[in-house]
Amino acid sequence: MDDIRALELYSGIGGMHFALRDCCPAAKVVAAVDINDHVTQVYAHNFPNVKVKNKGIEGISVKELDNFGFNMVLMSPPCQPFTRIGLQKDINDKRTKSFMHFLSILPKLQKGPEYLLLENVKGFEKSMAHEELCKTLDVCGYHKTEFLLSPKHLGIPNSRLRYFMLAKKSKFHHLVSRNDEELWTTLPLSLTDKQNCNREDTEEAIKAKCPKMDDQVRVQETCISHPISEFLEKDVPEDYKVPDKVKSRYINVMDIVPQESKISTCFTKSYTQYAEGTGSALILKAPPNHSENKSARNANDYDLRYFTPREVANLMCFPDSFTFPDFVTRKQRYRMLGNSLNVKVVSYLISLLLLDGDMKSS
Ligand SMILES: C[S@@+](CC[C@H](N)C(=O)[O-])C[C@H]1O[C@@H](n2cnc3c(N)ncnc32)[C@H](O)[C@@H]1O
Repeated sequence: MDDIRALELYSGIGGMHFALRDCCPAAKVVAAVDINDHVTQVYAHNFPNVKVKNKGIEGISVKELDNFGFNMVLMSPPCQPFTRIGLQKDINDKRTKSFMHFLSILPKLQKGPEYLLLENVKGFEKSMAHEELCKTLDVCGYHKTEFLLSPKHLGIPNSRLRYFMLAKKSKFHHLVSRNDEELWTTLPLSLTDKQNCNREDTEEAIKAKCPKMDDQVRVQETCISHPISEFLEKDVPEDYKVPDKVKSRYINVMDIVPQESKISTCFTKSYTQYAEGTGSALILKAPPNHSENKSARNANDYDLRYFTPREVANLMCFPDSFTFPDFVTRKQRYRMLGNSLNVKVVSYLISLLLLDGDMKSS
C-alpha cells in the first residue's frame, strides 16, 4: 500500500493542504507551487516543512514534475477566465495558459498521479478548458466524477458554490451506482437549484424534477446547519464596524445577517472594499421590524460590523492552527481568503476520491 504524496498546484494559502490534512493526517504534500510571493509566504509560514516553489506553472517541465514523486494532484487554477461576471475568455485568457500547459504535460509524465482533484468556479463545467481537461483525463485513462458543491450543503452557514472534478485511475465504486443506499448516506451533496429533491427520491424522480441535472451530480439535503454564532470571535475591535457613510449609502444592497443566521454569502477577495456581492456583514443591532426586504431599511436603525479575517477563515473551515504572518495586512488577508476555498468541502471530496482506493487515507 502506498502513502499519499500530493502535489499542490496554485497553492495560494494552502486550503487544499489543510483539507488533505483534515481527512488524511498521514498524507504528505511533496511540493506547493504558486506564482504569487505574498501567498507563498503565508503558505510557508503555515507549512514550514513543505517545498514551496514561487513560480509560474507554465514554466514547469515534465522532468521537474517527475522529480517531485507525487501520486496525487490538488489544484485550483485561476477562475477569472470562467466567472459569470467576467469576460469568460476561457482558453483564450492568458491566465489559462499555465493550466493548458499542465494538461499538455500530464500524459508525458513517467508515472501520472493516481488521484487528481480540481476546484474552480461554477461555469467552468461549460468551458473549453473543461472540455480539454476531460479529453486529457480520458486519454490518460482516468475515471472521473464531478460536483457542484457549497459549504451550506454540509451544514456550514456560508455559500460558496464551486465546481469540482475528481479523477482517479481506479474506478469510483461508491459513486457509480445511484441505487446504492450507501451512496445516499455517504453523500450529503446538493445543488442550489435542486431544492425540490430529497434522499427518498428515486433516480427517475430526481431526473423528472431536475431535467437539466448533470448525470454526475448527486443531491441530498440532510446536514444539520450550524448558526453563524459558532464561528465568531469574542471582543472584536470597534474598527470592524461598518462606517456610517458606507451604511447610509449601501444598506439597501448589502447582505446583512444576524448571528443566529444559518447562512452568509460568499466572501470574495473584495470583501470590505465593495459593499455589494462581496460577503455578508454581521448585524449587531437591528430594529424590531427588521425584514429581508432590503429597500425598506433605514441605515440609522442598524449597527453592523464586518466579519474579521479570522471569522471568514472559520466560516471557510480553516483550522485554528492556520495563521497569517503579522506583516500581512487586513486587506491582504481578506483578499487571500477570498481566493481560497472551503476546507471541509474539499476534505469531504478528497475522502470520496480515496474511497475504495489502494492508498492509505489515515
Ligand atoms: C484560486 S487561487 C487558489 C487558492 C488556493 N487553493 C488557496 O487555498 O489559497 C489561484 C492561485 O493561483 C495562483 N496563480 C495564478 N496564476 C498562476 C501561474 N501561472 N502559476 C502558478 N500559480 C498561479 C494565484 O497566485 C492564486 O494564488
